[in-house]
Amino acid sequence: MKKSDAIIQLFDKPSSTFTYILVDESSREAAIVDAVDCHIERDLAEIASRDLKLKWVIETHAHADHITAADAISRRTGARTATPALCGVTPANLQLGDGDKLALGIDFILAIHTPGHTAGSMCFRWRDAVLTGDTLLIGGCGRTDFQSGNSAAMYDSITTKLFTLPNDTRILPAHDYRGRTESTIGEEKLFNPRIADKTKQEFIDIMNALNLAPPKMIDSAVPANQNLGAMNASAICASDGYAGDIPLALAHAWWIKGDAVMVDIRTQAELDCVGRVPNAICIQWKLYPDMLLNPDFDRELIANVPRDKPVLFLCRSGVRSIDCARRAQALGYSAYNVLEGFEGDPDAQKQRGKLNGWRHAGYEWIQG
Ligand code: FE2
Repeated sequence: MKKSDAIIQLFDKPSSTFTYILVDESSREAAIVDAVDCHIERDLAEIASRDLKLKWVIETHAHADHITAADAISRRTGARTATPALCGVTPANLQLGDGDKLALGIDFILAIHTPGHTAGSMCFRWRDAVLTGDTLLIGGCGRTDFQSGNSAAMYDSITTKLFTLPNDTRILPAHDYRGRTESTIGEEKLFNPRIADKTKQEFIDIMNALNLAPPKMIDSAVPANQNLGAMNASAICASDGYAGDIPLALAHAWWIKGDAVMVDIRTQAELDCVGRVPNAICIQWKLYPDMLLNPDFDRELIANVPRDKPVLFLCRSGVRSIDCARRAQALGYSAYNVLEGFEGDPDAQKQRGKLNGWRHAGYEWIQG
C-alpha cells in the first residue's frame, strides 16, 4: 500500500474538529474534508503554500457542532463539492453512494457508507488511511442519540465495514477531545472501550447510557451545513416574537455587505472593558451597574436605526439580545438575535472569549 505522507491534519479548537487536506503528490491535486467556517483563510493559505490544486470539497456528514466552509472554499477555488447522498446536503455537486470513488491524481478516494452517527454518515479511505468522520473516534465513537443516529447501525458500520480494513490502516477521526491525532484499525479493535469485545447489545446499552446534552449549535448548524454552510437565510432559526436567531458568520456577512444594521446592546462598561464592533450602533438594553432596562431604549432605537434593513442585535453571548430583538420587532423592525454574541460562551474556567463569539472568530473589533 502506498504510504500517505500527504495527509495534512488541521484543528478547530472550539469544536475539537479535524479538517484534512488529502494530497496526490505527483499531480498536486488535493481534496479537503470537513472544513470549518472560521478557518477558510488558514485552509486556503495551506493549499496555496503547497502549490496544490483543490479538486474536491468533501463532508463526512451534516455536522451539528460547527458550520462547514464547504461552499466558501468551493467558490473560491472552483473545487467541486461531494457529500453523502443521505445527508440532505442538496446543493452539493456530487451525492455520494457507498463505494463511490473520487479521482485524485493517479489515485482515488473511496466513499464508505457508515450509518450510525447519522443515517447518511460516510468514512473516506485514502491510501493507507481512513477518515472516519464521527463514526469511529480514537477510543470512542460518534454519538447516536440525535439527527437520525442509530446505535445498532453504528455497531454494524464499525464492525463489518471499518474493522474489515487492514489492522495497520491509519484512523483519522473528525474529532478528538483529548489531544490525540490518530490511531489504527488494529488498536481500536483491541482497545476501543465502547466496541472492543462488545456484543451489539452491549454496545447499544453503552450508547443509551451516555446521556449527553444536545450540541449547542445543532439548531443552526445542521440547516446551514445542509446548505454547505452557504451564507443565506436557510441558516437562520425561526424564533418566537422576532425575525430569528442568526448564526454569527451569517450576521457578519450581512453586516460586511451592508445588508443589515448592527446594534450592539451591551452596557457602556462592557464596551469599554472588552471591546466593540467598529461602526456598530450602540444602544444599551440594560444599564450598568444595576442592569435595569434602559428606559430610553425605544426612543434611541427609533432615532438612530432605520426600519428599512434587517437589524442584528449583538450582546455578550446571544442571550440578552433575545428580549431586545423581541422588543424591536414589536416596534416594527425586522430584528435578529446574533448567536454567540461578542464574547461567546464561558469555558470550563468560566472565561469568555475562548470558545466562540465575535472576537474569537477574528472579526473586526476595537478596544474602548
Ligand atoms: Fe457529527
